[in-house]
Parts: sequence; C-alpha cells; structure tokens
Amino acid sequence: EWNAQRAQAIIDGNRHLRGALLPILHALQEEFGCIDEAAVPMLARSMNLSRADVHGVISFYHDFRRERPGRHTIKVCRAEACQASGCDSLIGHIERSLGVEMHGTTDDGAFTLEPVFCLGNCALGPAAMIDGDLHGRVTPARFDALVAETLA
Ligand code: FES
Repeated sequence: EWNAQRAQAIIDGNRHLRGALLPILHALQEEFGCIDEAAVPMLARSMNLSRADVHGVISFYHDFRRERPGRHTIKVCRAEACQASGCDSLIGHIERSLGVEMHGTTDDGAFTLEPVFCLGNCALGPAAMIDGDLHGRVTPARFDALVAETLA
C-alpha cells in the first residue's frame, strides 16, 4: 500500500545517484507495485524537475505501471518469430476473452496483460508467460485452458 514516508525515504536514499530518476522509479514500483500518482509531485520537488518531466519518463517506459497489477501477470511475446506464428491473433483473443487491453488489468483485478519482446522460446511460438511460467504454441484454446488452471 502507498506510504508517502516510505516513498520519500526511497527518493532520498537514491537521489544523489547520477540519472537517479529511473532507479528511483524502479525502487518505488518494487515497493508499492506501481507508481502512485502521489509520487509524481514528490519526485518533481525532490529532483528539481517539472511534473510533466516526471510524467514523461513514466509514460515513456512501459515497464512502469500507474495502477497496481492484477493478481496474475500474463506476458505475451510480440517479437518477430512469434508474430510469424500468429501472436497477433492470440493477443486479439486474449483481449476479447479477458476484456482487457495490453498494459491493462481486468476489472476484477485477476490479470494484468503485458507485451514482451522475446521470451527466448522463438521456435515454439506464440509464446506466453503466466506468473513466470513459460508456455509455447499457445493457441486460443490452450490459452483458455491455462487461464482456467491459473484460476483453479
Ligand atoms: Fe517470441 Fe522469441 S520471438 S519468444
């Protein structure tokens, strides 16, 4: 849960570093699961930046989340080999069946969907990772089965 004092301690502990904003954002996300909106003015003040600068950095790097992630994370590979084996239609299926878009979290907080660029499983595309478990040749039907297993 967000805690302004802890956030300030993280900022103060790192702001002397060169290029401190990125490591601080990573540390905040590690601690709180996302970059809370309340962190933006704190970062701006502590680091002599404008709020727009801070927002710009957060939105430039897709690694940073603005909202707490779901209980389960689904990463789908969008790199070349997986594109050749049909990841786009798999992603379409996932977005429709879960009712969520890339970088989003389902309304019930169960799943966060994220693109990745190569999971090192290129010969077995489309590749996806659910809560750290790698899966290959993920068809829509297999994806549905994996979701059911994950929720079981
Ligand atoms: Fe998808 Fe490598 S391109 S796993």
